[in-house]
Amino acid sequence: MKPAVGLVGLGLMGKPMGRNLLKAGFPLTVWNRTASKADDLLREGARWGESPLAVAAASDVVITIVSDPPALEGILWGANGVLEGMRKGSVLVDSSTVSPELERRVAADCAQRAVDFLDAPVTGGTWGAESGDLVFMIGGRQETLTRVEPILQAVGKRFFLLGPNGAGQTVKLAMNMILALQVEAFAEALALVTGAGVAGEKLVEVLQSSMARAGVLDVKAPVILKGDFKPSFPLRLMHKDMRLALELAKQLGITLPAGAAAFETYSTVKAAAKEDVDFSAVARFWQKAQSA
Ligand SMILES: NC(=O)c1ccc[n+]([C@@H]2O[C@H](COP(=O)([O-])OP(=O)(O)OC[C@H]3O[C@@H](n4cnc5c(N)ncnc54)[C@H](OP(=O)(O)O)[C@@H]3O)[C@@H](O)[C@H]2O)c1
Repeated sequence: MKPAVGLVGLGLMGKPMGRNLLKAGFPLTVWNRTASKADDLLREGARWGESPLAVAAASDVVITIVSDPPALEGILWGANGVLEGMRKGSVLVDSSTVSPELERRVAADCAQRAVDFLDAPVTGGTWGAESGDLVFMIGGRQETLTRVEPILQAVGKRFFLLGPNGAGQTVKLAMNMILALQVEAFAEALALVTGAGVAGEKLVEVLQSSMARAGVLDVKAPVILKGDFKPSFPLRLMHKDMRLALELAKQLGITLPAGAAAFETYSTVKAAAKEDVDFSAVARFWQKAQSA
């Protein structure tokens, strides 16, 4: 019999992950703060847990994927939280992007309860969540990963075990810093090229055929050129990830000057945004700067 899986957090990422778990035949119990976001999954065969605690109590393995550190703390340690409901010998997998320090606190609490824990943030975007092709960056023990890998294979294709708890988040924050810088660099280069009267499409054509090509721009360059900033990876989440990366750098006594400069630009665009937009909307800063 397949292990019972719990899923807490049905946002842009969690919902398609839930759909793939159901397609793979796992019994699935779900909870989301906004209950209506579970409707589709309930129609497709998931069960509703009355609280994060109820999800944990019904599950052998619980996956959490919520926005940020306060959201994770709330669903884990708040009233009727996940940790209170976890059974001895069960596994908690957190795929939210949060700080390594928070994940080490979660790991310590899990150890007290005889629960195994992996920090397992993901990359691959909403399209990776939909196609079941996410890449996992994992902190924890090999033995725990071996136990849950058959479940994670329903939602992901590559699983990198990077060290003890917290290591998954460390690499994830570094990865997102690179993505943020690549998109920011493209936005600046676009301002330069279009400012000089050359079409942005020409830049993309050459760039993606060159050593400077970036996979992220296969997806983000077209939306930037169209000015279509519907959130796929929301700016508010990229901003949070850059803040967490810079905080980690500060704790380690490391300076990240390019990251810090890009964070300023992302902060300006986030402060000016009137709606939820994708992080590629950072290009607005340069378009506005140019037209000013
Ligand atoms: N989108 C991407 O491309 C992507 C890629 C890789 C990693 N990630 C990471 O994956 C995580 C989820 O991202 P997402 O895109 O799915 O975000 P999202 O669409 O904004 O969904 C966020 C989820 O967190 C829940 N949440 C927020 N605050 C909460 C609180 N105080 N208490 C309980 N639940 C709360 C939301 O509940 P409600 O529905 O009630 O608001 C929702 O389920 C984030 O850490 C993000 O950085 C995202």
